[in-house]
Amino acid sequence: MIPRCALTMVSWPPYPGRKASLLALAVLAGALTAAAPTVRSASGAEPITPIPAPAGLDPRRVALGEQLFRDPRLSHDNTLSCGSCHDTSTNGASANAQDRGAHGSLLPFNTPTVFNAALNFRLNWEGNVRSLEREAEEGLRSPVMASSAEEALVKISADEVMTQRFRVTYGRAPDVPALLNAIATYERSLLTLDSRFDRWLAGETSAISPEELSGYQLFKSLGCISCHQGVNVGGNLLQRHGIFRTLGAPEPELVRVPSLRNVAATAPYFHDGSAATLNEAVRQMGLAQLDRVLTDSQIGSIVAFLRTLTGAYQGRSVVPASARPSADPVPR
Ligand code: HEC
Ligand code: HEC
Repeated sequence: MIPRCALTMVSWPPYPGRKASLLALAVLAGALTAAAPTVRSASGAEPITPIPAPAGLDPRRVALGEQLFRDPRLSHDNTLSCGSCHDTSTNGASANAQDRGAHGSLLPFNTPTVFNAALNFRLNWEGNVRSLEREAEEGLRSPVMASSAEEALVKISADEVMTQRFRVTYGRAPDVPALLNAIATYERSLLTLDSRFDRWLAGETSAISPEELSGYQLFKSLGCISCHQGVNVGGNLLQRHGIFRTLGAPEPELVRVPSLRNVAATAPYFHDGSAATLNEAVRQMGLAQLDRVLTDSQIGSIVAFLRTLTGAYQGRSVVPASARPSADPVPR
């Protein structure tokens, strides 16, 4: 099989080092200016696009989904809610390298944030799930919550207040499709808006500093952008990791390129949570994915850019999760 990485790396145009005749340059001039902007963004010209405000969501479904997301009755032993690992009052994830599921066993992967997950082309590190409904169904099972959608439904249906909320929201008594749809609808509302970088993309020149801008230019010129681009600055490709040097646990070989939205607030990093800090993650990315030893000043500059990708949910900035023992329920 041809490594997908090789494909993207070759097909992405705007790198220094490309060789082109003057004639080709002249012919391509229009396209190249569009693909490789230099100083300021012109609308539509950047390989990263702003996060759109969520649209068309029924507020009653969002509210019911939020309540379910925080309900520990969704786990078999009533100890874990979705929010226990995905803390939406902080970063939509946890501070742990790996969280523990309902039976106390360590989960195989670092918990990804639920913020902006709705914008990823596939879900999970392996990209093996295609919808938020399906993801919620999987999360209810072992090893995560050791329950099932059917078991959760029995508990929720025994609660008269909840049953009434389902009737008002879906026009019928609780059932599995409505349960999963409510959770997924809430997750579709979890988009983080108004990051400084998005404001810069929208034309607010002073939203990012000259150092942050040069970090962004380095991010593009080094080739980070070949894997981390689009609305989520990632989340739209499967790639090998550890192409030039080993990166964390070798399995799985192919992972979905993580989104770098809010990345300054989602330590620890990588599918196994093996990089504790953002500087360390960037240093390892240079080595493992690009065969480049980045200098401290290059790393500092890229990290400065990455910090501009922190957005806000309901007007509150995304912040790092507070360290708390793995699998402790989040206060409701
Ligand atoms: C015990 C911790 C834990 C709990 C509880 C939990 N999750 Fe997760 N969640 C994870 C981990 C770990 C992954 C990554 C799994 C993988 O990559 O295979 C994940 C992945 C996800 C993703 C995919 C994000 C992305 O961008 O790929 C979504 C969405 C999600 N969970 C929603 C939920 C919902 C909804 C619930 C409740 C039904 C839930 N989770 C409960 C740990 C947890
Ligand atoms: C060939 C594709 C590719 C390139 C090029 C690349 N990355 Fe990555 N990046 C990945 C993959 C895949 C992962 C997930 C690795 C893992 O978890 O094992 C990742 C993970 C990360 C993470 C951790 C995110 C998290 O939430 O865990 C950061 C930060 C990051 N990359 C930044 C960069 C920077 C900065 C550059 C340029 C110096 C870069 N990447 C170049 C594919 C790439």
